[in-house]
Amino acid sequence: MVVRSQIIGCGSYLPARVVTNRELAEMVDTSDAWIAERTGIRQRHIAAEGETTADLATQAALSALQAAEVSAADLDLLVLATATPDHTFPSTATKVQGRLGMTRGAAFDVQAVCSGFLYALATADNFIRAGQARTALVIGAETFSRILDWNDRGTCVLFGDGAGAVVLRAAEAAGTNRDRGILSTHLHSDGRYHDLLYVDGGPSSTQTVGHLRMEGREVFRHAIVNLAEVVGEALQANGLTAADIDWVVPHQANRRILEGTAKKLGLPLERMVISVERHANTSAASVPLALAEAVGEGRIKSGDLLLLEAMGGGFTWGSALVRY
Ligand code: UT7
Repeated sequence: MVVRSQIIGCGSYLPARVVTNRELAEMVDTSDAWIAERTGIRQRHIAAEGETTADLATQAALSALQAAEVSAADLDLLVLATATPDHTFPSTATKVQGRLGMTRGAAFDVQAVCSGFLYALATADNFIRAGQARTALVIGAETFSRILDWNDRGTCVLFGDGAGAVVLRAAEAAGTNRDRGILSTHLHSDGRYHDLLYVDGGPSSTQTVGHLRMEGREVFRHAIVNLAEVVGEALQANGLTAADIDWVVPHQANRRILEGTAKKLGLPLERMVISVERHANTSAASVPLALAEAVGEGRIKSGDLLLLEAMGGGFTWGSALVRY
């Protein structure tokens, strides 16, 4: 019997405060025109003072559980992707677990920066396929506003805060369910590129939180190549072509990266879910946020073939092919 993980509910949460490009132009030497032209970003949401990653994650989790009609008591796994945890330890996942009232099973964080949600999804999927979990909550949540250098115009204009979540449930791949669920996941990393995108602090190195540092142009170049490769790998593993994909749900870093990836794959841009203009780059939250929005708006429908992909610091990158 083949068991697959089906996505049975999606949820998201964005902090109330919206910061426009114009507001940023009052803080650093930038302009709405530069940010919009180079990145496609027009605004981002920023967490309120005292509002933490666990707060955003809990809200997204509650909305995903509601959409899935699943109670927290039914969960036996919670995997949370973040690079901006509330504390060095314990994990943000256990904090969210406690708040949700989930008492069985296990909760833990995974850290793969912007690819974090793909890593968390692949982890939960493997637990389910191995029979170690039946109902899993997978969350991507970040407060990147806390690790930005607000004097560095090259990075502070690019990121935002937010959270997204999905509920997975084990289902036998048979009958009408034969093709539904997560069909494959592919993960990659290459630590040689550590210094192109990193945070210059941490408990063991500097005993400070540190700030995000990035060689933007280099990251951009690698992103186009790695994302096209990992998408090709997913299609090949499933005997599919780009023409079979109904929706690409990409990591939202830069509209030009999305356009470049679409072009490389020969996919029309209309088949990409794009939210970068309103959310900016929310790191591990960006894929589940975009997914939840597109599902909520009725653009993604049951039976659609989705390709989720992301690339981030490490470098890390990955994909998931899902029959929704
Ligand atoms: O999520 C993880 C992955 N992260 C990414 O995927 C980010 C990938 N990189 C990018 O998206 C782009 O490289 C950026 C948006 C970060 C930068 O765009 P770019 O076209 O590569 O610009 P650049 O860094 O080459 O900078 C061009 C110019 C520079 O000025 P000079 O040296 O040509 O005089 C920068 O100083 O733009 C200047 N610049 C800015 N100007 C106005 C950099 N940031 C700003 C800014 N406002 N905010």
